[in-house]
Amino acid sequence: MTIWRPSLAGRTGPKFRQISDAIGESVADGRLTAGTRLPPQRDLAYALGVSLNTVSRAYADATDRGFVQGEVGRGTYVRAGGPLSAQAQPDGLTRPAEGPIDFSLNLPAPGRAAAALARTLKALSGSPALASFLDYQAAPDQPHHAAAAADWLGQVGLEARGEDIVITAGAQHGIMVALLATMRPGDVLLTEALTYAPIKAIAHHLGLKVYAVAGDDGMLDPDALDLACGRVAAKAVYCLPTLHTPTTATMDVDRRSAIAAIARKRGLTLIEDDVFGFLPPERPPPLAQFAPERTIYVTSVSKSLAPGLRVGYLRVPPERADAVRTAVRLSSWMPPPLMAEIASRWIEDGTADELTAFQREEAAARQSMARSLIPDRYLSGNAHGFHIWLTLPPQWRADMFQMAARDHGVQVVAGGAFAIDRSDGPNAIRLCLSHESSRARVHQGLAAIAELLRAPGPNDSMIL
Ligand SMILES: Cc1ncc(COP(=O)(O)O)c(C=O)c1O
Repeated sequence: MTIWRPSLAGRTGPKFRQISDAIGESVADGRLTAGTRLPPQRDLAYALGVSLNTVSRAYADATDRGFVQGEVGRGTYVRAGGPLSAQAQPDGLTRPAEGPIDFSLNLPAPGRAAAALARTLKALSGSPALASFLDYQAAPDQPHHAAAAADWLGQVGLEARGEDIVITAGAQHGIMVALLATMRPGDVLLTEALTYAPIKAIAHHLGLKVYAVAGDDGMLDPDALDLACGRVAAKAVYCLPTLHTPTTATMDVDRRSAIAAIARKRGLTLIEDDVFGFLPPERPPPLAQFAPERTIYVTSVSKSLAPGLRVGYLRVPPERADAVRTAVRLSSWMPPPLMAEIASRWIEDGTADELTAFQREEAAARQSMARSLIPDRYLSGNAHGFHIWLTLPPQWRADMFQMAARDHGVQVVAGGAFAIDRSDGPNAIRLCLSHESSRARVHQGLAAIAELLRAPGPNDSMIL
């Protein structure tokens, strides 16, 4: 009998994952049938030229993903009844594999988080600290959670100590508590002219006045910021300096330091949203590094690890920390401790690095697909981002294009949704490429968009 031996040719990512992917594929295509015993770990390690540890990890991963099960002393066998994937989607975020193609949501690609969660929950179930996660927490944030967060922020070039960190239930909550801690009803918040769409609604609920600052490519212009501060008594600025939503532009170092200088001169608080900041392999340090005494830096694990893991990290200047912690207490008492523990463990044991690397790789692959299908003249977008920004040819208006795309089975968002002043909406659309379940579906959606771009425009023949 020949022993099963996977081919790793053409696979990317960590070796253990390549082997476990190969096990899953062989189970799916019937090369490995229920009850088949996998080769002894040492034999497979030798055959593939990898370490025994890599194969052990691959078998553990394949077990977590439901392809196989281990029996002590007997080896590892293909599960009867097929992989769990059909029932439980152990590979991660649940996304439809049919129906309309959704380019409207800026979420990470379905990946490996569920397998990691299974491993971590198993480890946690035996932890002496388990019960403590069910209780109100004595201190607002557990010191080791804050220390892990500070470490994580170091990766984007932000210096932080554990005591500078405030943990929230995601970045949305982070933005809300930053505003609650800084502003009072009637205060003025400045933003970029195009920005993360929910900001308008959040500001409205808090009774804030929002004014857009002129800029280019969606980014804040330092001179325009200074001018705006001369006209209105603004308290704070909310901005997205890295992989801006929706344009994906990134401010360079000079612009960051100019904005920090104006914030200092005008006494402004900067609220920096950096949820996509982990994506580019090289990037300027966060704005918070240029003005640490007045920036509330906001990020979360939603885009890098999993959006359902409701964990956000704020780096807060020491004199603002009390106000921000009070806002967390008033809005939620505390971030869910079990979630904060899972995120911390993932940062500490390298899982976060693996999941983040996967998101980067997937985003880059989907971006290059867009570049091969859509002419450059329409496209702007950092090649590392989750989304692209498409400037439409003159025959299309963004709202009509959005409707036409929907009729062709693709959901997109017209540029006006991101404009503070709706009458100012650019003739452009945002396409989020990471959320879809597979590259094949991304390809299909992009091909439909490319065809629409070539079309003569909306069909006006029915307008009487
Ligand atoms: C720019 C931006 N900021 C903040 C958020 C909120 O993220 P979270 O899921 O961590 O609350 C999102 C989510 O889409 C986002 O795109």
